[in-house]
Amino acid sequence: MADATETPTKKLWDGRFTEATDAFVEAFTASVGFDQQMALQDIKGSIAHATMLQSADILSESELELILGGLDEIQQEIIENRFEWSVSLEDVHMNIESALTEKIGVVGKTLHTGRSRNDQVATDIRLYLRDQIDKISDLLTRLQQGILSLAENESETIMPGFTHLQVAQPVTFGHHLMAWYEMIERDYSRLLDCRKRVNVLPLGAAALAGTTYPINREMTAELLSFDSVARNSLDAVSDRDFAAEALFIMAMIGIHLSKIGEEFVLWSSTEFDWVEIDDAYATGSSIMPQKKNDDVAELARGKSGRFIGNLTALLVVLKAMPFAYNRDLQEDKEPIFDSVDQLLLLLPAITGMVETAKFKQANISKGAAAGYSLATEIADFLSKTGVPFSVAHEVAGECVKFCEENKIDLAQMSDQQLVAMHPNLTPAVKKFLTVTGAVSSRTSAMGTSKDSVLAAINKLNQDISGVDKAITSLRKQFSGMINP
Ligand code: ARG
Repeated sequence: MADATETPTKKLWDGRFTEATDAFVEAFTASVGFDQQMALQDIKGSIAHATMLQSADILSESELELILGGLDEIQQEIIENRFEWSVSLEDVHMNIESALTEKIGVVGKTLHTGRSRNDQVATDIRLYLRDQIDKISDLLTRLQQGILSLAENESETIMPGFTHLQVAQPVTFGHHLMAWYEMIERDYSRLLDCRKRVNVLPLGAAALAGTTYPINREMTAELLSFDSVARNSLDAVSDRDFAAEALFIMAMIGIHLSKIGEEFVLWSSTEFDWVEIDDAYATGSSIMPQKKNDDVAELARGKSGRFIGNLTALLVVLKAMPFAYNRDLQEDKEPIFDSVDQLLLLLPAITGMVETAKFKQANISKGAAAGYSLATEIADFLSKTGVPFSVAHEVAGECVKFCEENKIDLAQMSDQQLVAMHPNLTPAVKKFLTVTGAVSSRTSAMGTSKDSVLAAINKLNQDISGVDKAITSLRKQFSGMINP
């Protein structure tokens, strides 16, 4: 890219100016260093706009042909990294338009008819976000598929379930993994919902007040696959709610991945020893040869800071900004680009780590009966014999105290010891004082038994094949823009 001290370039807006912009002001106000990431969306928007202008008889057929030819050449140059970006041309929009005029002469300047950079930039950022939402949804589905097949394998593995990170009740590991699935499913549905508000065409608002040209916004919307057109021109150029929403969703995904990352960190510690992270997803220490660090999991935790920071940055830009367009809005892009770029790296890394990790089932199950995790079974058993639950709870607590004092497990209490605690505490309770007994009796639809978990997985396997179909059709729609 050219630097800020180059010879002043002719700008789109300098008709009323007699002096050149100060070089530092140019460097300070320029956005081309980052908004060139939306170059392909900018060209796509311009192609649709020019096509509409021609069909509304605002441009002639030969003018349109010249414009499309020029834009095509520019697109190739950008894709092949041959395009020369210039800071003094401020942003992606002016860089492309100036290159077009250089190529095809004054006709290049007719492209901006009935349009302003204010509605143009709003269009570009929407097109960009729509593309990214589709990629992220796709990656979320891939992670969910990985979780589903892991949960299927682990539907019978017993693990200690925790509250307050203390052993609470035994659960199946499959059930725990399906809790991950549910978090990601909410993120997926939030993205789909947000996409509706992203997919609205702002073009036609021009600078803020609309345009005097007989433009056809519905046609532009259709050419760009927007679902609808904005209704108010002032709102159209100042609205970035959709971007804040997308940043919130990315922050929420970041938080979910951070929680998964934290569990990996705990589980792979020597103290837990539940999982061995694959070499491909771990790193070593430069000084301690024995170490295998789960940096992917730790970075998943660490990255959530910037996802939340990016959301906060945009919300503060928007707060108290007067209508309509203000240059403050240029600050929307870097937070958006950063969250997107980070998430597009983080999601495949986490998915790979989850899919390749080796879980040590014996170790996972080992602690399931620790910490008197079966005490609830005694309370449930008693209350089913007609004892009020709070009385049953107290008796179970006394059993725990007795076992603690005598250094035995609940299951090791003799028939006499049990009945001494409460007359209804017959030997029949012993059947429930095993982790498998406790887990397999929790057969309610959202419960932890193998059958409940497998039923949930089967249902979701069907749903996800529906999601796969939707993604395939989206991919066709935006072919070339979605990574394979
Ligand atoms: N680079 C600007 C942005 O990102 C484009 C719009 C500029 N419009 C203006 N009136 N200066 O917001």
